[in-house]
Amino acid sequence: MPTTHQFDAIIVGAGGAGLMAALYASKGGAKVAVVSKLYPTRSHTGAALGGIGAALGNLEEDKPIWHAYDTVKGGDYLADQNAALVLAENAVDAVIELEHMGLPFDRTPEGKISQRRFGGHTSNFGEKPVRRACHAADRTGHMILQTLYQQCIKNNVKFFDEFHVVDIIMNQGACAGAVAIELGTGDFHIFHAKATFFATGGWGRVWRVTSNAHTLTGDGAAAVFRRGIPMEDMEFYQFHPTGLYGLGVLLTEGIRGEGGILLNGKGERFMVKYAPNIKDLASRDVVSRSIYLEVRDGNGVNGKDYVHLDIRPSTVNKYLEAAGETRRVDEAYIARVLAETLDVCRTYAGVDPLTEPMPIQPTAHYAMGGIPTNIDAEVISDARDTVVRGLYAAGEVACVSCHGANRLGTNSLVDLIVFGRRGGMKVADYVKHADFVPLPANPEKETEAEFKRIRNSKGKTRPVELRKEMQRIMMDKCGVFREGKMLDECVTDMQNLRERYRKDLHVDDLGSKYNTDVLEAWELGCLLDLAEVTAVSAANRTESRGAHSREDFKERDDNNWLVHTFVTRDSTDVYTDGNPKLVIDTTKKVDMSLAEKDPAFMPKVRSY
Ligand code: FUM
Repeated sequence: MPTTHQFDAIIVGAGGAGLMAALYASKGGAKVAVVSKLYPTRSHTGAALGGIGAALGNLEEDKPIWHAYDTVKGGDYLADQNAALVLAENAVDAVIELEHMGLPFDRTPEGKISQRRFGGHTSNFGEKPVRRACHAADRTGHMILQTLYQQCIKNNVKFFDEFHVVDIIMNQGACAGAVAIELGTGDFHIFHAKATFFATGGWGRVWRVTSNAHTLTGDGAAAVFRRGIPMEDMEFYQFHPTGLYGLGVLLTEGIRGEGGILLNGKGERFMVKYAPNIKDLASRDVVSRSIYLEVRDGNGVNGKDYVHLDIRPSTVNKYLEAAGETRRVDEAYIARVLAETLDVCRTYAGVDPLTEPMPIQPTAHYAMGGIPTNIDAEVISDARDTVVRGLYAAGEVACVSCHGANRLGTNSLVDLIVFGRRGGMKVADYVKHADFVPLPANPEKETEAEFKRIRNSKGKTRPVELRKEMQRIMMDKCGVFREGKMLDECVTDMQNLRERYRKDLHVDDLGSKYNTDVLEAWELGCLLDLAEVTAVSAANRTESRGAHSREDFKERDDNNWLVHTFVTRDSTDVYTDGNPKLVIDTTKKVDMSLAEKDPAFMPKVRSY
């Protein structure tokens, strides 16, 4: 029999969004538990490097409305404008709150929070790059995690570390909690809660080259999706332009924010061609595509599929001087503000960025889509904004949608803090008057049976083989550039892989304690489900917008496609239905509330 725990609220995932939600729910008087498959400070928020955007205006004039404008434009006009405004406006006091909690931000000589440039962030509606990213060296996410974890401990939040949530419990049309497996024992646990809050991050491991940790397997999103909740805007998956070549490890955009320059194999600063105004600091989708085009035209370094990112002081100072800027950098400065970058490059590539350019290629980085929510992190179940009682989500797993078709750098950390906090407040409020929804009989039954099936699988294919195949196919057919026939093939390929997953899996480890063999197989099932939804959504959207770039539909089509994609799995047979029908709904229109008041927010062709 599984152990049952009861809390007002459980937060699934211990990254920035989860910890902020836990903190605010507990501050509001709720009895809160955080359930995480990782030790909290190992969460992937720690890999967000270069900064958190907020229009503090510490170094030059800035305004939240300009931040909202950049977010909407960066998102290629698919962002819900009310959500982008909430993001930008709430960012200011959220960052100041982090400072007051003790987060060690870098400082200006006057003692204010230091800010650097980041892609797509401008002042005065696109006029010129602005210093908006508040940073703690290039370890900003790490510092946020440490700060929030300490605050949660102080506030008596209970932590269940290394408990992997595998299912949600739905009853009477509401969420009654979640089912988890304790990694150390293999035992099942039931978490009975008035509010269940998903903050489990993304699923970058769908692709071969990714900045995401091995743990980013979309388990939270898959668990919710399998119980009939739609996934929104899954076709929009961001490739960060500067992953370390071959490994995909993130090299922060902060490098370019500090003056780093992208150079092709001929030593040319190619971004001048693609984004004449803000060049290397254009939005990520634009820069990633530019790198691909350079490589495709034979301009990669040494004929290979990578280009250079150069932060050597001599290079940076040359371009700063040419731009008429008075600022200059030296080795000591770079070593201080980009300490992590130097370490990563020296350790993993044997390259010292102070003396050599870094080899980089685009790397799968961030899901703009996910579990649909409103601006208070309440999960919605359809295109008409129907709220699912007791179910919440924030951070990368959620789609608010404030990022639209492409997220700006630094806005993920803002999203975590802003919507984690709003969601935590909403939960605190909700649990004050809500009753516990009764648990159905044996809520763990189906999941337990699926784990048993996986553990006893004695087919021919090991999970790693299927995973590699999925990652290769998704990279080739559903990556930076896409095309209809390939996307259709990709959908079929994912269905075939899922069929093999069900019928031909081979798992060796029969044990129950820390059985990573079984858990990796479980995670692969989640990845396959999300990969298929991504491909289905991408095949359906016959236009190019933001991170979704189609060779057969090169133009953005505002007449037909200023709408969100909702994909729902139309099957109650959660684990054994090999080919569930996926229903697509594109009736939800993008919120244009800012454009109604200010023509600057009307969709127009993006140029940087
Ligand atoms: O480039 C970076 O430092 C990544 C930040 C982000 O994804 O927002």
